Amino acid sequence: MTVYESGIGDPLLQPQTHNYNIRNYLSEEHSILSRCLHKFDCVMELGCSDGRHTAQVLADGKQYIGIDNVSRYIETARRRFARHATQPEFIVDDIKNFVRHMPTQAGKMLMIFPFNIIGNLPNAEEILTKALKMSDGVIVFGYKNDFHTQSVRNDYYNSAGFEDITCITNKDGVRFTDKRGLNTIAYSEQWFHDIFNEHYEHCHHINFGNIGVAYANFNI
Ligand SMILES: C[S@@+](CC[C@H](N)C(=O)[O-])C[C@H]1O[C@@H](n2cnc3c(N)ncnc32)[C@H](O)[C@@H]1O
Repeated sequence: MTVYESGIGDPLLQPQTHNYNIRNYLSEEHSILSRCLHKFDCVMELGCSDGRHTAQVLADGKQYIGIDNVSRYIETARRRFARHATQPEFIVDDIKNFVRHMPTQAGKMLMIFPFNIIGNLPNAEEILTKALKMSDGVIVFGYKNDFHTQSVRNDYYNSAGFEDITCITNKDGVRFTDKRGLNTIAYSEQWFHDIFNEHYEHCHHINFGNIGVAYANFNI
């Protein structure tokens, strides 16, 4: 069970626990998505929480599908957008099953992995590979691995109530864990480049905010 399913991870998603750098990260994530939307007809957000990017996608007139495996978050998302003219679709499921929720006729499909969700998935490589194959565009929002970012992440996890945190660096990236189930890695640039290249996709990456890196298979 993930910390989100158990409820222990709820504070990680609450704006009150977000320090300046995390707030700035999330706001820049919105900006990057905004400037890419014109290329696509439909956005599938994997790990959408209570509808992180829904409003922005709908405002741009695009179809929206959000997937999250925590039904509490999805219920909140549905309530938030219940009165919206264009209805977004919110699905309770594990991200690993995203293919079964892809619409058959949606025009150009963009898949987004927000707020370092990629680093929370046990089968990240397999899922990213499938997303690259099945969609017209993929953007993954991750973290940098420098000392400043490690310190910002440490403060963020601390203020969300995770105290005895371990931080381990290896060739894949920088992973934070704790005894209550926190388990999140910021994959390295090399990790992303290797996966994209293995599937004959060019990996574009840009730094954003003070701590973010976005990876995409098109020019962002
Ligand atoms: C976007 S991630 C946030 C990661 C965190 N900011 C960090 O520093 O690593 C959290 C969201 O992903 C969702 N999530 C996590 N694992 C999932 C899975 N396997 N399938 C669907 N949703 C998942 C959670 O329920 C939550 O809404």
